Amino acid sequence: MSALGESLSEVDWFFDGMQAGLFDLDGVIVDTAKYHYRAWRELANGLGFDVTEAQNERLKGISRMESLEVILGIGGVAIGAAEKDRLATVKNARYVEMVQQIDPSEILPGAKEYLLALRARGVKVGLGSASKNADIILRNLGIRPLFDAVIDGNQVSRSKPDPEVFLLGARALGVAPAACVVYEDAAAGVEAAKAGGMRAVGIGRAENLPNADIVVPGLYALLAR
Ligand code: G6P
Ligand code: MG
Repeated sequence: MSALGESLSEVDWFFDGMQAGLFDLDGVIVDTAKYHYRAWRELANGLGFDVTEAQNERLKGISRMESLEVILGIGGVAIGAAEKDRLATVKNARYVEMVQQIDPSEILPGAKEYLLALRARGVKVGLGSASKNADIILRNLGIRPLFDAVIDGNQVSRSKPDPEVFLLGARALGVAPAACVVYEDAAAGVEAAKAGGMRAVGIGRAENLPNADIVVPGLYALLAR
């Protein structure tokens, strides 16, 4: 792993032969984590306990039901499967209410420009997200047409760090995994990319993403290249 900016030629080498970019959604294209947090927190408060921002970090990149298990674990709440389904539905309804208000101003800095830059170079663009709400979020951000393929929680049965979501993305784009570059803010997503035989750009801080091939603070940092 190396920090971007050390050597431009090293970075150019990294992107050499790239035919597709596969993007995580939350934390890479848009900060929906704050809405997930708000909705989970309201649910937890209703059950009589609170969730801290640090605890919320553990929910990034994992599926809705896995997140619910973490939340219930924090509160020490033991319930049956039917009640879990009900709570997940309640949380999701609240979350959807919030993301229905999202507009293009919430696209993270440089994300749209970077997608456009890849497309202009003939690089295919795909989404690889655990979220079952990815489509509505992309549409509200006005960037759905920039994606040649969208793979989300509705098509995937195994969560990151399993590579399924990215392998399905590569297949949908008709690009070999070795020619794909994944953009991920979660450690589990970086693992998924590497397990799928892809290069991984970590979005965030290098110490949180030790297995990423390179780490940048945001997609805007790649635009200068
Ligand atoms: C993304 C987020 C997770 C979230 C998951 C499922 O991976 O990072 O925090 O739990 O999507 O989202 P959903 O919209 O299907 O509940
Ligand atoms: Mg993410």
